[in-house]
Amino acid sequence: MSRILLGVSGGIAAYKALELIRLATAAGHAVRVVQSPASRRFVGEASFAALTGAPVLVSEFERDPARGAFPGQEQPAREPLSHLELVANADIYLIAPASANTIAKLAAGIADNLLGSCALAATCPLVVAPAMNNHMYEHPATRANLATLRERGVHVIEPDSGRLASEGEQGIGRLAEPARLLAACEAVLAGAVGTEAASGQDWQGLNVLVTAGGTREPIDSVRFLGNSSSGRMGLALAGAARARGAAVTLVAANVALPPPDGVVCRQVVTAAELKTACEEEFPGCDVLLMAAAVADFAPAAPADGKIKKADRQLLELRLEPTADVLAGLAASRREGQTVVGFAAEHGEGAVDGAREKLLAKQLDAVVVNDISRTDIGFDVDANEVTILGTRGERSDIERWDVPRASKARVADAILDVIGRLRDSG
Ligand code: CTP
Repeated sequence: MSRILLGVSGGIAAYKALELIRLATAAGHAVRVVQSPASRRFVGEASFAALTGAPVLVSEFERDPARGAFPGQEQPAREPLSHLELVANADIYLIAPASANTIAKLAAGIADNLLGSCALAATCPLVVAPAMNNHMYEHPATRANLATLRERGVHVIEPDSGRLASEGEQGIGRLAEPARLLAACEAVLAGAVGTEAASGQDWQGLNVLVTAGGTREPIDSVRFLGNSSSGRMGLALAGAARARGAAVTLVAANVALPPPDGVVCRQVVTAAELKTACEEEFPGCDVLLMAAAVADFAPAAPADGKIKKADRQLLELRLEPTADVLAGLAASRREGQTVVGFAAEHGEGAVDGAREKLLAKQLDAVVVNDISRTDIGFDVDANEVTILGTRGERSDIERWDVPRASKARVADAILDVIGRLRDSG
């Protein structure tokens, strides 16, 4: 679980910060909020305080009843300086929405309110999510300010395009959706958390291949058969492995989220493309983490153009099985390579089903997800998994249960287990 300091600046999108807090706390994170004075015109402190379960601060000069502690954290005995204590306790500082004015002040290092002084005092990763009118976002001043922040290592979450707040306005500038904000923070945290957890950079010198997302199999030139995998778990694994010092290659199948910093990314669409990319990358890797949801079947003869509905006659789609990429790679592995599969299983019998996959595909470990649950797994920021692993002897399968946590934490737990298996294998 991480401690997220959320800075809310003035803008209509401030209401989305409430939903972000709901998602973040549901994923187990502790959140504290600092508001700019202008943001209170849009959403008041009471709403943020109720959702975070912690006091909200606006000015450096007001007392913090929680003394800079996050929910679940012990309060210090003395009365600290709120902006210094809050950022010292935070794992990440996210400013969302970040108005054009706040971005300009951050770029200039101006600290005329608590939100700004927290940014100057922060040693944790700083993430900024702009939200404003499209002309303001595209103004050269805002572009230059964002470029300055990026150069300084600030993570910028690009706004979305679409309908803006003022009537009839369309364009870029909408605050990224709360789920995307949280996923981006977790991807950053996967790096930061991993670095902390593995201070010895225990994966340095290892080449890690991660697959993420879900493949799409074309039916015609515009339609496809796909699945609901967002790629979050794979991205968290890639970020965590990178943070431990590994050289990471990510094969991403239709992943909308950005890859973690420092990871080499290959984009693929279909199961066949994923197979080719993996076959090229696998010989050079030490650990394969096969988190992608790969189609088991693909249309046998995708149409060249767009299929017309014509007379609304029955349309039959013939599917042919795709190659099992993971089984193929596992069968060709050399000594010293660790092959990890991910099994999406439904309800009771999930672990037994995964055990069969481990044996059938000759894996070193398999990470099991129960896809009958809606609170974890596909397109959700939390996960809860069981890991089955072997230390060389496949008749002797060990089991680890990782309780519900953010995907960043679960990724770290998976890497811990894989590390142990490799050390003793
Ligand atoms: N996998 C693969 N190639 C496929 C299908 C799956 O490499 N064509 C990999 C997945 O990336 C995952 C593992 O196999 O790591 C398990 O995938 P899953 O779909 O759960 O199992 P399947 O073997 O496809 O069996 P089933 O769908 O019958 O449960």
